[in-house]
Amino acid sequence: MSDVASVEFGREDIRRRIEELGRTITGDYEGREPVLISVLKGGSVFLADLIREIPLPLAIDYMSISRYGGATESRGRVRIVKDLDNDIGGRDVIVVEDIVDTGLTLSYLISTLESRAPASVAVCALLDKSIRRIVPLEIRYRGFECPDQFVVGYGLDFEERFRNLRDIVAVHDLEALRRDPDVLLPFLHEGAGVDGSA
Ligand code: IMP
Ligand code: MG
Repeated sequence: MSDVASVEFGREDIRRRIEELGRTITGDYEGREPVLISVLKGGSVFLADLIREIPLPLAIDYMSISRYGGATESRGRVRIVKDLDNDIGGRDVIVVEDIVDTGLTLSYLISTLESRAPASVAVCALLDKSIRRIVPLEIRYRGFECPDQFVVGYGLDFEERFRNLRDIVAVHDLEALRRDPDVLLPFLHEGAGVDGSA
């Protein structure tokens, strides 16, 4: 479609993978009542689809955190912008993330959650950019290994745009996107030949 970006994970592949993740989680948590925590905003799209593949009694909650100094800062100073609504003491927690990159955000989040005495904490991430990891992190449930490229769609944004793409798109020319964020607009149009299954 363009040299700037292309579909990396199509909607049908995402759907199938989430179905598998849901089945695995359902088996692992049978007889329990997990609370799935999404990290706003990117993880919310994944969470919404994932919970409907887990036929167990469960709860959801949201947390929002922001990093000081922007994405290039390697010291992981993180601040809670919005905390959970409910206590997680004694609960089985599953943290649902869109993407794990350096791991700084998630490792801070996990240590915060663990200080509240949950029964367990596991991570479910749709995308794992493992090559960029700075902090070691156990991802119990992983959707896809992600290439070392900037990706948007399915919750992931570029400057708050493109979270509503049905597919996950890899950006090959980040400079071109910065010059003109509209270059990704064609990916917004459903069935515009970007999925392969259309
Ligand atoms: P980490 O602390 O470096 O693991 O950062 C993870 C967060 O950075 C994710 O929750 C995303 O919000 C953001 N992020 C990392 N890589 C990408 C990407 O390729 N596209 C969009 N957002 C990303
Ligand atoms: Mg995020």
